[in-house]
Amino acid sequence: MTLIQVHETERVFHLTNEYFSYVLRVEEGDVLAQEYFGQAIATYNGGRYYPRVDRSFSPNFPEATDRLYSLDTLLQEYPGYGTGDYRTPAQLIRHEDGSTVTDFRYKSYEVIKGKPRLAGMPSPYVEQEDEASTLIITLEDPKERLVARLVYTIYRDRSILTRSAQIQNVGTETHYIQKAASLSLDLPLQELDVITLNGTWGRERMMERERVKRGVKVFDSKRGSSSHQMNPFLALVSPETTEYTGEAIGFSLVYSGSHQMMLERDSYGQTRVQLGINEFGFEWRLDPDEQFETPEVVIAYSANGTMEMSQSFHSLYRERLARGKHRDAERPILINNWEATYFDFDEDKIKSIVDESAALGIELFVLDDGWFGHRDDDYTSLGDWFEYETKIPNGLTGLADYIHAKGMKFGLWFEPEMISKESELFKQHPDWAIQIPGRGLSKGRDQYVLDFSRKEVRDNIVHQMIEVLDRVPIDYIKWDFNRNVTEVFSAALPSDQQGEVLHRYVLGLYEVLETITARYPDILFESCSGGGGRFDPGMLYYMPQTWTSDNTDAIARLKIQHGTSMVYPISSMGAHVSAVPNHQTHRETSLKMRGDVAMSGVFGYELDVTEMSEEEKATVKDQVTFYQAHRRTFQYGTFYRLKSAFDSNHPAWMFVSEDGEEAIACDFSVLSETAPLIRVFKLKGLDEKAVYEVDGRRYGGDELMRVGFYIEPVVKGDFASKLYVLKKVNEHQGGQSK
Ligand code: GLA
Repeated sequence: MTLIQVHETERVFHLTNEYFSYVLRVEEGDVLAQEYFGQAIATYNGGRYYPRVDRSFSPNFPEATDRLYSLDTLLQEYPGYGTGDYRTPAQLIRHEDGSTVTDFRYKSYEVIKGKPRLAGMPSPYVEQEDEASTLIITLEDPKERLVARLVYTIYRDRSILTRSAQIQNVGTETHYIQKAASLSLDLPLQELDVITLNGTWGRERMMERERVKRGVKVFDSKRGSSSHQMNPFLALVSPETTEYTGEAIGFSLVYSGSHQMMLERDSYGQTRVQLGINEFGFEWRLDPDEQFETPEVVIAYSANGTMEMSQSFHSLYRERLARGKHRDAERPILINNWEATYFDFDEDKIKSIVDESAALGIELFVLDDGWFGHRDDDYTSLGDWFEYETKIPNGLTGLADYIHAKGMKFGLWFEPEMISKESELFKQHPDWAIQIPGRGLSKGRDQYVLDFSRKEVRDNIVHQMIEVLDRVPIDYIKWDFNRNVTEVFSAALPSDQQGEVLHRYVLGLYEVLETITARYPDILFESCSGGGGRFDPGMLYYMPQTWTSDNTDAIARLKIQHGTSMVYPISSMGAHVSAVPNHQTHRETSLKMRGDVAMSGVFGYELDVTEMSEEEKATVKDQVTFYQAHRRTFQYGTFYRLKSAFDSNHPAWMFVSEDGEEAIACDFSVLSETAPLIRVFKLKGLDEKAVYEVDGRRYGGDELMRVGFYIEPVVKGDFASKLYVLKKVNEHQGGQSK
């Protein structure tokens, strides 16, 4: 199959696989226009050639021969401002004469096999060249001697298209890029809903759906990170779209810094969508011969609802974004001491948790915050990555040896991008904290952000980490980031480059992550930012899992994990059982329910196992054994949302193993009902011809999906859960199932 069809005479590009078609045309005046993005078609014959209409107050090109063609309404691919289009431009560049009009026109194209990597930035990749094809379209503004390259990669067997852009200065003057979207896409007149994942600390990725209305709407983060507040994802869906029907286009920005997602519905009901680095406070100096590259946007198209869109993201991010030996490996069941001890621990306390955890079958112990400098609270020591001897007199090596001798793996917490005022590092380098000289430093958890745009700062932290990691046998690292950036400024940059600081910070972070993860390929990395404040594809490229939320309450987690699953695979979602009353919500839920919710993720514990009753320990043992038996299905199976955690008292979801041999369906009840409802449970993703056994009964796959079965209506009080394990018993349905 030709993934990229080029019709030279019509100047049409048709990117297509079995899922979607994406059609571009070089329009009159060499403007790159968008003609169709939707369900796949075999051949495109120009059905969406844009109509010519004379509209008052819609300007025409200087070289226009009539009044019928204006950029004011045309659907475009990388629109500028100042030549007739009054909608939001994809780029804005200030030139040496102070003007900001850039007029990019089509110059040439190139089709290459596979998918090129972005320089210094994360992006999904291919393993074989024939997995994808890439179209690179070159646009040019001859007056300003600027070139824009739009890069489109279409995957062969996935409903995935990626886009990014490069802007190159081929002249002799300096330009300032004030905005460079990774993607701009215009869709024709239609009603659309937008789905976003917004929230705050402890309430990340709450799903919200609203109608796209006339005007401009921006969803963004100005925090220097992808944020708890607005995940770098949005989906455009038709108002009728459900989880399993209707069109859905998901956009996911592979970037961990300040981002911006813009929607503009114009006077004709056409919608422009843009994603990229946040233009707020951004300005990038582009000297002669330099090139600026945007991060990449991943687009997942589905003609069959939002679940299929999510599954496209899941498999891509699991198989072609995450890297290294842990990408496909079952992830260990961990126990983390944070909620068990906070800062209040010593070696004996840690050892007692380790002893008990090892006896329960838990596989990895993670020593969280508080092991370094002289850190007894969150006011000190960030930046001093050496052992706090009072707390761990035998050092990390002693502890690692102890833990390994118990047959467990050893993990360690770092927060490499931060500095405390009370630290050796701050004494030596007070100017390394991001700050504006002469202005106070805003606090966040009484700590400050290191200027990772500076090489010497990055090098110092990398050296400190290497000193620990070369010496201590460590199997896992939790990489935290516990505040956002304020007083943005870098002492190392001149005044006309201060608009670059936040992006240079992210590039610096990516460089450090590349260095550390490449040097320690055996270590499993988990990213974290006060829970899920940096749960984005950029981080997943370096670290295959993320701590989903500091909120470990099972009921709150139903929504958080549901929202997260819109984009991110289950293998990326850390989920732990914690103590009750829950430390974030003060809610009491059963150990069973906490376990059932946490198993729908990368499972672990975060409580003091030494304080558990014998009965509770027995339950933990059972949970560990159960998760071990079905871990592959949970972590790498295909995930199906059945009932929304956002609008149902009975959220439900399920997992189907990679080989289809088993499935696990999870039914949750939030509040109990007097006179409980008699509910039918219908499943998804099964083989309709196969027979499955569940709870000692046999049903056909078609029966389970179309007929379903009644859920036993028992009143158990609030917060109940049940997991159904389905096993395929034979390939095809024989006679009557019982
Ligand atoms: C963040 C993390 C927690 C814990 C603390 C330690 O809040 O999300 O899990 O590691 O930092 O300070």
